[in-house]
Amino acid sequence: MTALPRALPLLGHAPWFALKPLDFLTSLAGHGDLVRIRLGPLRAYVVCHPTLVHQLLLADRTFDKGGPFYDKLREIAGNGVGTCPASAHRRQRRLVQPAFHRDRMPGHTQVMAEEVAALTAPWQNGQTLHVPDAMHRLSTAVVVRCLFDPSTDTSGIPALQSSIDAIVDGITRRMTWPMPLLHRLPTPGNRRYQRARLHVRHLTNALISGLRSTGADHDNLMSLLMAPDADGVFLSDTEVHDQVVTFLLAGVQSIAITLSWAWYLIGTHPDIRTRLHDEVDAVLGGRPAQLTDLDSLDLTGRIVTETLRLYPPDSLLLTRTTATDTELGGHPLPAGTTLVFSPYQLHRRPDAYPAPDRFAPERWNAVDKPAPGTFVPFGAGPRKCIADTFVQTQATLALATVAARWQLRPIPGQPLRPVGQAVRAPHKLSMMLNQRSSTSDREVDV
Ligand code: HEM
Repeated sequence: MTALPRALPLLGHAPWFALKPLDFLTSLAGHGDLVRIRLGPLRAYVVCHPTLVHQLLLADRTFDKGGPFYDKLREIAGNGVGTCPASAHRRQRRLVQPAFHRDRMPGHTQVMAEEVAALTAPWQNGQTLHVPDAMHRLSTAVVVRCLFDPSTDTSGIPALQSSIDAIVDGITRRMTWPMPLLHRLPTPGNRRYQRARLHVRHLTNALISGLRSTGADHDNLMSLLMAPDADGVFLSDTEVHDQVVTFLLAGVQSIAITLSWAWYLIGTHPDIRTRLHDEVDAVLGGRPAQLTDLDSLDLTGRIVTETLRLYPPDSLLLTRTTATDTELGGHPLPAGTTLVFSPYQLHRRPDAYPAPDRFAPERWNAVDKPAPGTFVPFGAGPRKCIADTFVQTQATLALATVAARWQLRPIPGQPLRPVGQAVRAPHKLSMMLNQRSSTSDREVDV
């Protein structure tokens, strides 16, 4: 176990972590399997070895959710299924899991198809598209309509979208700069964060009181939250609120980030773009993708998987705290120790992935099951993302449906450069839209 050099007085490693968190976390692998860092007053261990991360994820009662990072998340998501301790988790997970059951997928896919159609309807040949904005709009509408209310008036989506952005920014700042005083100052960022929290609370309360008065009968997450649990007990408004916020924060940005990076990668790899269009032409012939197409959209699915490897959206906020005195990899850890791990760092290990920075969807052709801890965009074990299949399915179908009719290309004279880190969408990603004339690979000339 090695301590990282260059901890500054008072600040420790916080400046490096705050400025380039993923580069910082990735650099730690060279210092050992379990590396001690200091962020201001907070001491933590970064778990760099896949086997140790796997052990940590499976033992959810020993390596529990909690500690200073989760205190920040709980300010907004309370004790929802993603933030609650292991002692409360089984009951919550049982309650919400059916919303992602296989038999709900056709309904979710129908919503995705409608939202892709609504998104692309106004697109014009030759138009410049700000890809992250478009993907964010799509994922917000899909998550809200699939999980909360299929009849949602989508005109409120942009405001919700910007509130979720402000909350995620605020939480990320609070986690990467764990210095409470800074976050009480009336800075524009702190004020935006507080306004966004109020906005989401207001929307959630309106949704809950509306459903309490009319009854929730949409056969979705919201209906599950409003129904009695296995013991006949109803959730309180606060508990429902915590779950709604959890799903909004966990779901909306992550799909948008994945789709945005996928378009970036497709745009910068013309050979793969051509093969993608060949595949969707052969399978879809210009129509929207359906659930039954999934198995035939082989390359499209691998593009999503490879995007999740290179740019896993939830790479920063993954932490645990030891519930008892324990050990990891032979290193003793007293109760209350904070542990951090990063899928981004694990996914770019050359011992797990040859040429790890290369976008190579074909590397998944031969892979049956990645080695434990080497591919964890959705985590693993009891706290694994509840929506992993939902994400892989919806992202694959959305890419295929768009690619059947449109080609997203770099704007001539403006090479695409990845701006941003994996946890965020590449925020300056604008691309040119080419309408595809038929199911052939020809595009309409601009
Ligand atoms: C690309 C998309 C997504 C990625 C990469 C992702 C990633 C993750 C990861 C890594 C975790 C585990 C966190 C941990 O172990 O500390 C997680 C948990 C979770 N995710 Fe996702 N997620 C995605 C999309 C979604 C969506 C669309 C939803 C729902 C709308 C969602 C809901 C949740 C929930 C509720 C949990 C907590 C599960 C539990 O503790 O039982 N996620 N996600």
